Amino acid sequence: MKITVLGTGYLGATHAASMAELGYEVLGVDVDPAKVDALSRGELPFHEPGLAELLREHVGSGRLRFTTSYEEAGAFGDVHFVGVGTPQRPGAFAADMRFVDAAVGSIAAAATKDCVIAGKSTVPVGSARRLADIARASARPGVDVQLVWNPEFLREGFAVADTLRPDRMVLGLDGADGARAEAVMRRVYARQLESGVPLIVTDYETAELVKVAANAFLATKISFINALSELTEVVGGDIRTLADAIGLDERIGRKFLNAGVGFGGGCLPKDIRALRARAAELGVEQSVRFLAEVDDVNTRRRGATVQAVTEMLGGSVVGKQVAVLGAAFKPDSDDVRDSPALDIAARLHSIGAEVAVYDPKANANAAKRYPRLDYVDSLEAAVTGAEVVVLLTEWAEFKAMTPAQLEPLVAVPQILDGRNVLDPQQWEAGGFTYRALGRRALPVA
Ligand code: UDX
Repeated sequence: MKITVLGTGYLGATHAASMAELGYEVLGVDVDPAKVDALSRGELPFHEPGLAELLREHVGSGRLRFTTSYEEAGAFGDVHFVGVGTPQRPGAFAADMRFVDAAVGSIAAAATKDCVIAGKSTVPVGSARRLADIARASARPGVDVQLVWNPEFLREGFAVADTLRPDRMVLGLDGADGARAEAVMRRVYARQLESGVPLIVTDYETAELVKVAANAFLATKISFINALSELTEVVGGDIRTLADAIGLDERIGRKFLNAGVGFGGGCLPKDIRALRARAAELGVEQSVRFLAEVDDVNTRRRGATVQAVTEMLGGSVVGKQVAVLGAAFKPDSDDVRDSPALDIAARLHSIGAEVAVYDPKANANAAKRYPRLDYVDSLEAAVTGAEVVVLLTEWAEFKAMTPAQLEPLVAVPQILDGRNVLDPQQWEAGGFTYRALGRRALPVA
């Protein structure tokens, strides 16, 4: 069985390399020749732990190739995975489906043998049925093209592990007509299924919704704890202890209850907005109206961080040296899409602070987005002369730093822990004024 993967971004590149790792011959397809050239040389255009090695190995062995040609892909693949982007539409909340529509239409038209198109992109519910019509209408006479919906749940930073050993797999089928496609997909994933990964077989609509529901739930969990952190800040409580305590209830669980600057990235923010837009189109806007509040709580955290920094600097940031630690939306990633860290750094700069940003991997991407910030290439360079150190992305390097390491370098020993990952006692004992989002409004005397 031969596999193609349409789209070679985070999702597609990871999926292509992982399919090669499972033993398949894989052809990755992208309309961007620069990306195809880089990947064909075994070079990964972004940072993802473990993926560069996998790519090099399988490009080296010839099992994994890349092309810009849909014609080549149509002759090659028995299964075509669709992993192109569904970005937020400019000026709107809805998802932009142009790339998915084009990919499905093009591959269906190019297929010269019976095949299955497996949609992985995150799409508005109802898309799969529409795409199945596009596929059928585009297919050549005598070529059977079936579409399944097979959403992807990978997290950046854990993309390879999540793809090879997912918590579950979901397969949305076109009713009874989906029997051949189901059999093909069970073969593709045979190794994972044998190792016990649960497979949920359902209809198109449920499969599409599983993905957006999962992301909406995760976003809600984060905003729930961040909303509570607004309370603990006012009363002087400790949001981390609160999260630990409620998280011990198995029905709640401790994961995704880390309060701080909030969620960002290429998925959660756009997916909750797209779900709201889709619900409104379907006439059930009120069903997910709470997601507007989830979004608002999340955005408020950014303003609260800027406010906290301002207070720590005595009421004005103008001309003050601020060390910003982190630019990526989360650690182990160089992705700065909708990153709270970078947004906060830009806001501080826009109100007059002298901002030095250091991120172990995301400086280059951040500089493309906000060229006017000062990017430095070490933690030491960032904190030298700082009147406040602001930790915004919880890289291991930042979690491991100590007051003794920073104290000789900073101008004023104060730190804002935007991710609640440092030990307040350690920093206070080390002579720092420590403040955290949701932990203690005032430094302990
Ligand atoms: C997410 C989903 O987890 C994944 O299943 C889906 O396929 C794509 O979207 P990802 O965007 O890679 O994955 O990151 P994730 O680990 O979910 O983190 C999202 C954001 O939430 C990050 O900005 C992170 O810092 C933030 N976050 C996460 C918190 O602020 N608190 C938490 O407790 C957890």
